[in-house]
Amino acid sequence: MKAMSPTRTVYWRDARVCMIDQRLLPERESTLVLDDVASLAEAIRDMAVRGAPAIGATAAYGLALGAQGSTASTAAGLRADLAIDAETLLAARPTASNLAWALRRVLGRLDAEIAAGETEPTALRTLALAEAERIADEDLATNRRMGAHGAALLPERCTVIHHCNTGALATVDYGTALGVIRAAHEQGKRIRVLVDETRPRLQGARLTTWELARLGVPQTLIVDGAAGYYLQRGEVDAVLVGADRIAANGDVANKVGTYPLAVVARENGVPVYVVAPSSTIDLGCPSGAEIPIELRDPTEVTEIAGRRIPPAGVTAANPAFDLTPARYISAIVTEAGVLRPPFEAGLRAAVEAAASPVPAS
Ligand code: MRU
Repeated sequence: MKAMSPTRTVYWRDARVCMIDQRLLPERESTLVLDDVASLAEAIRDMAVRGAPAIGATAAYGLALGAQGSTASTAAGLRADLAIDAETLLAARPTASNLAWALRRVLGRLDAEIAAGETEPTALRTLALAEAERIADEDLATNRRMGAHGAALLPERCTVIHHCNTGALATVDYGTALGVIRAAHEQGKRIRVLVDETRPRLQGARLTTWELARLGVPQTLIVDGAAGYYLQRGEVDAVLVGADRIAANGDVANKVGTYPLAVVARENGVPVYVVAPSSTIDLGCPSGAEIPIELRDPTEVTEIAGRRIPPAGVTAANPAFDLTPARYISAIVTEAGVLRPPFEAGLRAAVEAAASPVPAS
C-alpha cells in the first residue's frame, strides 16, 4: 500500500472548506466541499469529520466561512454575525473541548484587532481565515511533538491496544495516540497494534485500520470486549488512547469504552497513556463530573450498516463518550511533554505554555 497522502483531513480551498468524508471510509475516499456554516455544523454533528482536534480546526474554518458569508458593513456587525455562527458550531457536538477552544481563538483574535482599532470588515474576514489556517498548521506541529514524546515511552518491541481513531483523520494530520504509534514505527520500533473496533460507529474497524494499513504498521482488529483477553494473557505492553476533554484533575472523557479498557489495563498492570494536545485540556472543569457527555441517536446502536439488529420494540442508549478517572491513567502526553500523576500542576503548566499573546499584525 502507498504511504499516507499528505492531504489534510480538513483544509481551505477556493473559499470553501474541504474534508475527507469519514462516513464513507474505507469503501470510498470522497471529499466533502462546504461553503456555509449550517452545512459545516451538520458535517460535524453527523461525523463526516470527527476527532477532537479535527472538529476544532473545522469549526475555526467555519468561522472563516461565516465571516466570508456575512454581509455586515461594520466590524461590530461582522462580530455579531460570527457570535451567532459560533453558537451554531458549538452546538454541533458537546464533549470535545477543542471545538470551543478553536472558536475562542478565532473570536479572540478578531476581538483583539477590533480593540486595537480595526474597523474594516474585510480585514477581519482575512484575519479569521488566517487564524483558522494557523490553528490547522499548529495542529500538525503539535502532533509531531506528541508523537516524539510518546514514542519514547514505548519499548523497542511492543504490542499496544488502541481505542477509536486518533490518527490523521481525527486531527488535521498525523494524529495523537496514533501519532505516537506512527512515530514509534518511523523510529524503527517493532510495534504491533491491537485495534479496538469501537462500537457503535466503528472508528477503529473502519478508520484506524485504514490508516495503519497505509502506514504499514502491523495490526490485528479485535472486538472491544476482547481487550481483556489480551491484557490478561500479558500480551499487551501499553494502552494508547486520545481524549475529547481532560479535566483539571486529569479525569479524561474519551470514546465510550475507554473507561473499562483503562480499568482492566490497571488490573493487569499495563500502563494507560492518554495522548492529547493542550487544547483538549479544560481547566474550567475541575473534574470529569463537569464534562458534558454527548448522547447520540440510538439507531447507531440498533443498526449496523443500515440493518436493524434487535427485534422491533427493543430500545437502546448511546453515550458517545465515558469518563476515565485520573487514577487509572499512567501518563498524559501533551505537546509540552509527558505528565505523570498527580496531573493538576502539569496540566495547568501545559495550558499556560500554549497560551501565547495574540501577535500584533
Ligand atoms: O466520536 P468521535 O469519533 O469524534 O470520538 C473520537 C475520540 O473519542 C478520540 O479518541 C478523541 O477525539 C481524540 S482524537 C485525536
